[in-house]
Amino acid sequence: MQVHDSFDRRIDYVRIAVTDRCNLRCFYCMPEEGIAYEPKSHLLSYEEITRLLKVLGNLGFSKVRFTGGEPFLRKDFIQLLENTANLQLFKNIHITTNGTLIKNQIPKMKSLGISKINLSLDTLDAERFKKITRRSDFEKVMKTFHQLVEEGFQVKVNAVVMQGVNVMDILPLAQLAADYPVSIRYIEEMPFNGGYKENQKICTAKDIQQTLQSAYPSLQPMVGKHGDTATEYQVEGFKGTLGIIPAFSRTFCNTCNRLRITAKGEIKTCLYDSGVFSIRDFIRSGVTDDQLTEKIIALIKLKPKDGFAAEEGSKLRITRSESMSSIGG
Ligand code: GTP
Ligand code: 5AD
Ligand code: SF4
Repeated sequence: MQVHDSFDRRIDYVRIAVTDRCNLRCFYCMPEEGIAYEPKSHLLSYEEITRLLKVLGNLGFSKVRFTGGEPFLRKDFIQLLENTANLQLFKNIHITTNGTLIKNQIPKMKSLGISKINLSLDTLDAERFKKITRRSDFEKVMKTFHQLVEEGFQVKVNAVVMQGVNVMDILPLAQLAADYPVSIRYIEEMPFNGGYKENQKICTAKDIQQTLQSAYPSLQPMVGKHGDTATEYQVEGFKGTLGIIPAFSRTFCNTCNRLRITAKGEIKTCLYDSGVFSIRDFIRSGVTDDQLTEKIIALIKLKPKDGFAAEEGSKLRITRSESMSSIGG
C-alpha cells in the first residue's frame, strides 16, 4: 500500500517529536527561559505512538524519525525504539538528537539495528557552542560524535548557519567530512524560535554553497534520493559529504514525502502549517484502527503544495512563535 497526497507525492516518512523538552537552549529554537512545556498527560504515550506507527507502517510508511526536543530526555525512550523495531514495518528508524545523553544507549541502539543518527552541532568552538546553546556541553557532544563514528553509525551533523554567529564554522565543520565518513549538513535558519523574532539576516543556501565552492573547487552535487531535504555534495579526497538544506527557501517541497506528529500529538502536514489535527484526541476518543487509517489518508490529502502555501493557510504569527522543540524540527 502507498499513500499519495493531492500533488501525487508519495508520503512515506513520519517524524515524531517524542517530547518538547530539551536540556539545551539553542537560541534559534527556544528562548533562554525555555517554553511552557506540555504536561506529560498531553504527550502521546508510547502505546499510542506504537499504535500510530503500526497504522502508518501498514500505509506504506518505511521511515520514521524520532525527534524532540531531545528524544533521549523522555523516560525509557529506548523502549519506544524497541517497540518500533519489533513492529518490523520500518526499514529506517532514525533519530535526531543533540548528542548529550545517548552515551549509554549506544550498544542497545546497535542491537536494535538503529544506525542512522542526525546530530545537531553548529560549531567546533566551545565558546561559540556555549553562546548558541546557552549550555556547556560541547565536549560531551564531540565525544558522542567520535563514539558514533567509531561504532559505525551513519552520522549526519546538522549545523544551522547564522550570519554573524557561526559562518566562520562552515569550513572547520567541513573538515569533519574530510576526515570521517559523515555528512555535514548546513541548514538555513527558520523562524521557529519560540518567540517570533524574525531571523536576522538569513544566511542562504546559496551563500553557503558559494563559501564551499570557493574553498573546494572540486565540489560536485550528487544525485538526490526520494524526499531528501539536503542537496549533498562530494569533494575530492573527502571521506564524507557536505549537504545544504534550504529549510527557509523551501526549494525541495515538490518532492516532500513527510508527515509530522508534534509532541502533543498534532499532525502537521507541513512544517510551516499551524498543526492541522489532534490525532491524540482522536485516538483518545476511542476510534478503531480503520478509522485512524481513514483519517490519516484524509489528512495527507490536505497537505499543501509547499511551505509557502502552508504559511498562507495558517496563522503565520502563531506558527512562527512556535518552538522547533515542540514541532520536532
Ligand atoms: P534525513 O532523513 O537524514 O535526510 O534528515 P531530515 O533532513 O529529514 O531531518 P533532520 O531532523 O536531520 O532535519 C534537518 C533540518 O532540515 C532541520 O533543520 C529540519 O528542521 C529541516 N527539515 C526537516 N524536514 C523539513 C521539512 O519538511 N521542511 C523544511 N522546510 N525543513 C525541514
Ligand atoms: N531553523 C533551522 N533548523 C532548526 N533546528 C532547530 N531549530 C531550527 C531553526 N530555527 C534544527 C536543529 C536540529 C533539527 C531537527 O532542526 O538543529 O538538528
Ligand atoms: Fe514538505 Fe512543508 Fe517542508 Fe516543504 S516546507 S518540504 S511541503 S514539510
